[in-house]
Amino acid sequence: MTQAPVNVTVTGAAGQIGYALLFRIASGQLLGQDTPVKLRLLEIPQAVTAAEGTALELEDCAFPLLAGVDIFDNAKDAFDGTNVGLLVGARPRAKGMERGDLLEANGGIFKPQGEAINAGAADDVKILVVGNPANTNALIAQAHAPDVPKERFTAMTRLDHNRAAAQLATKLGVGVADIKKLTIWGNHSATQYPDIFHAEVDGKNAAQAVGDQTWLEDEFIPRVAKRGAEIIEARGASSAASAANAAIDHVHDWVNGTSEGDWVSMGIPSDGSYDVPEGIISSFPVTTSGGKYEIVQGLEIDEFSRGKIDASVKELTEERDTVRQLGLV
Ligand code: NAD
Ligand code: LMR
Repeated sequence: MTQAPVNVTVTGAAGQIGYALLFRIASGQLLGQDTPVKLRLLEIPQAVTAAEGTALELEDCAFPLLAGVDIFDNAKDAFDGTNVGLLVGARPRAKGMERGDLLEANGGIFKPQGEAINAGAADDVKILVVGNPANTNALIAQAHAPDVPKERFTAMTRLDHNRAAAQLATKLGVGVADIKKLTIWGNHSATQYPDIFHAEVDGKNAAQAVGDQTWLEDEFIPRVAKRGAEIIEARGASSAASAANAAIDHVHDWVNGTSEGDWVSMGIPSDGSYDVPEGIISSFPVTTSGGKYEIVQGLEIDEFSRGKIDASVKELTEERDTVRQLGLV
């Protein structure tokens, strides 16, 4: 081991994404093969025993990079000294629950977690919110961590990005590695806009290579945007391994940088770029380097794309207004 362990806090550690995530973090896939990690698992008291079971299995893997596993049932201790926080645990939507009720219930989780991050996380802390509604949960946590730079709070749209890459590659009969510069704009919800107009396939424009606006509008966009529901319908449970994989990709690229000639999608606090209101946590195309991300600037947005981006951003501003009214931000 060449450096001190990095503290990685995972909330909802005993859930299905947690189970798909922890072994990959411990094996070095999150931060790289030179970086030892200490896992700090947060669960609700009723699920602590299950998290302890997972910790036994982590021990049995004898991962050389795993420097320890600690389990907590309170946010304050779980985020003490955290360098990377993966906020996975969230309140799922129950039958008959309105969006406002869901946001309020999640406020009860993400407000104290934001406060705990503010109180005790390391100076270089990076936060990824996976738990839905991810963008607005990230906004709530951020609002309660005034001493942490705002840009450290991000939300996961990488699963949508990866889904879009897979669908486009299948359509064009190429490998996913041949697809570059895809963008997810907006919310991690059915209003998101997967944009192929700036994407490239083998160096050529992907929208031109597809050449089929009907496929784009009637198949690709709805399939990607509603893929979460398609998975739930088929599995009887929401995506877990693919969500964990996307969380690994998001943090790995944030820490280690994006490849030359490509970009990724991250839900990040808007700086007003592309007329997305400043402050909301919306998905953008970003490049990363040295642990920092930058929005890709100068992309031409045509009328079709503008309408799609605006629709998703409208949903995000409505969610922000709801949590404002609830006093959560
Ligand atoms: P799950 O129900 O299997 O697990 C959630 C876990 O969180 C449970 O173990 C629960 O005990 C725990 N939890 C609840 N409240 C907590 C709290 N206050 N502190 C710590 N832990 C808490 O759910 P899952 O399948 O692992 O999914 C987790 C979340 O991720 C859901 O909100 C889901 O909708 C979301 N998700 C997001 C994406 C994305 O792309 N952003 C993709 C898939 C799933
Ligand atoms: C997904 O995109 O797979 C999830 O966000 C779906 C969900 O509602 O958990």
